[in-house]
Amino acid sequence: MRVLVTGGTGYIGSTAVEILLGQGFEISILDDCSMGHADTVPAGVRFIQGSLLNAAEVADALAGCDAVMHFAGKSLVGESVEKPDLYHSVNVDGTRILLDEMRKQSITKIVFSSSAATYGEPKVVPILETAETNPTNPYGATKLAIDHMITKEASEHGISAASLRYFNVAGALKADRGWLAERHNPETHLIPNVLCSTQANPVKIFGTDWPTADGTCIRDYVHVIDLIDAHIKALNSLGAAGHEIYNLGSGSGYSVREVVKAASDAIGHQIPFVDSPRRAGDPAVLIADISKAKRMLAWEPTRDMTTMVADTLNSMA
Ligand SMILES: NC(=O)c1ccc[n+]([C@@H]2O[C@H](COP(=O)([O-])OP(=O)(O)OC[C@H]3O[C@@H](n4cnc5c(N)ncnc54)[C@H](O)[C@@H]3O)[C@@H](O)[C@H]2O)c1
Repeated sequence: MRVLVTGGTGYIGSTAVEILLGQGFEISILDDCSMGHADTVPAGVRFIQGSLLNAAEVADALAGCDAVMHFAGKSLVGESVEKPDLYHSVNVDGTRILLDEMRKQSITKIVFSSSAATYGEPKVVPILETAETNPTNPYGATKLAIDHMITKEASEHGISAASLRYFNVAGALKADRGWLAERHNPETHLIPNVLCSTQANPVKIFGTDWPTADGTCIRDYVHVIDLIDAHIKALNSLGAAGHEIYNLGSGSGYSVREVVKAASDAIGHQIPFVDSPRRAGDPAVLIADISKAKRMLAWEPTRDMTTMVADTLNSMA
């Protein structure tokens, strides 16, 4: 089976490419490398350096493929507030083009990278897939719009689709050619930022007066290797027309102070940090209910925070 991995030179997409190849899938990649890195592309892969917004490039990338894993997109929450039109264009319009070109080539299977940002501030935690969706930023709104678009495509045109709503993805994968890891610029994710913290530029802890045990926000983290395992299980579950949405996390949470402690333990000294005021729009606790993915995909994450931090640290060495 040949899979088109859009965004296949980015953090999660490049990890997917590596694991899919290892399991015998053939791979095509479409990525404009605006955030990704062409040096992650392994030998034996068909790589189209092009944009989701260019229908001819999308059609070329889809040629000969049986299914799509769609990771490409813009994913910085802060940037999405400043540039909502850019986010709508790349994420929503780009996915529209992808679905249209898939239909022209009779490709009916897609696994999409959705996000916990579709839920916004939850009324109930852990969050179920049936929870209300009230995104609090344009990034989350684009992911929700795409989920709706895919549902419509499935009912009108019979595609078989899975949207995977990731919580916080972390960790890294060591490939023969080196580590596949977060190389975002700017880096907005907590674990790499904690590991880069210095006395001169200490990591900020946003809010120490939240209604949690240690006063800092709690988030749910999933290792990127476990995440890709879920993608492959989701891909293998496709066939009948329809659209399923699954949360992917660990089903439990770590506070920001716990992440700093895990990183300090891994590095062998106390990582410098500075307590700072709350950030607007940050919910206190975000934890996924992952029972649907466990039940329907027979998926179970196995890597904990210690492994996520250790792999990220090793990838930075
Ligand atoms: N990292 C997380 O914790 C997390 C959480 C929830 C959802 N997601 C989603 O997962 C996906 C992958 O995330 P990531 O962390 O690997 O991000 P990333 O930025 O590393 O990867 C995205 C890739 O998409 C490519 N891209 C961007 N615009 C494009 C376009 N117009 N045409 C073709 N390629 C384009 C980029 O060059 C990059 O390689 C994204 O859709 C993101 O929204 C990530």
